[in-house]
Amino acid sequence: MNKRPVIIDTDPGIDDALAIAIALFSDELDVRLITTVAGNVSLKNVTNNTLKLLNFFEKDIPVAVGAAQPLIEPLVDASNVHGASGMEGFDFPEPKTDLLLKDHAVNAMRKVIMESEEPVTLVPIAPMTNIALLLAMYPEVKKNIREIVMMGGSAGRGNKGVMSEFNVATDPEAAKIVFDSGLPIVMAGLDVGWSALVYPQDSEKMLDMGKTGQMAYYLFKRYRGGSFNTGLKMYDSCAMAYLLCPEMFKVEETFVDIELNGEMTRGCTVVDLKGYLKKAPNAKVCTAIDGEKFREWFLESVSRCI
Ligand code: BDR
Ligand code: CA
Repeated sequence: MNKRPVIIDTDPGIDDALAIAIALFSDELDVRLITTVAGNVSLKNVTNNTLKLLNFFEKDIPVAVGAAQPLIEPLVDASNVHGASGMEGFDFPEPKTDLLLKDHAVNAMRKVIMESEEPVTLVPIAPMTNIALLLAMYPEVKKNIREIVMMGGSAGRGNKGVMSEFNVATDPEAAKIVFDSGLPIVMAGLDVGWSALVYPQDSEKMLDMGKTGQMAYYLFKRYRGGSFNTGLKMYDSCAMAYLLCPEMFKVEETFVDIELNGEMTRGCTVVDLKGYLKKAPNAKVCTAIDGEKFREWFLESVSRCI
């Protein structure tokens, strides 16, 4: 079986680090490019973190640097959650700078997509600024994109605002461009991430799973303050879980729009599960996940890493 070509657009970020690890060591995904975007922390830091991860994983995947800020608003980062550097808690090796492409992320994505013999899947696990710019600048790429499988949005409540999830709320205009693109979209949102938990006993098991497991353990100890003991939410890994083990999700095809103007709801994904808006579906939305299956899959996936 051919491996599925993917581009990961990311802002590591502790949960990004694990999602990237799972993708890189999977037998089913062919990660052709990693692009970085400002989100959890600054563009400089997320790029540095990506290059450190690739050195740590001993993988030579090209990296292209993308947008330093959202399309309209200034960046409000999540360093309160991921630490000042974005991956606080583990002593990583130096960034592998020779993997950095000269091309901007948007141009690098275009090249990979247009040159791929097989349609490429985009996996944004960060604000969607780069993806929106790509679709706006080079609409011809659409014909060779298989689908966009994102971690972003929520069919429930938010984590950046009452109703808005971080990746969408950080750049709502970009998310709107993506949801309006007509491309097949899969949304693994915040609300399924709430059930994609890794408990302390899982983290302890990871300590014996080689260096990736150990790295995860020490990052998790620092991640989101106290939630190590109550269960850490592996948001970004949900996008990989959908790609690699979709049967663990309940999925509904529905119309999703992005609230851009709401005084208190800007950046909300309006997931019209009951069809009030009378619009044709534009996304497959993950509405539930089997948490037990996820835990097993996650541990198994980490055990496959170095
Ligand atoms: C998303 O926001 C970031 O903090 C995480 O990396 C994830 O992509 C969850 O809302
Ligand atoms: Ca992320």
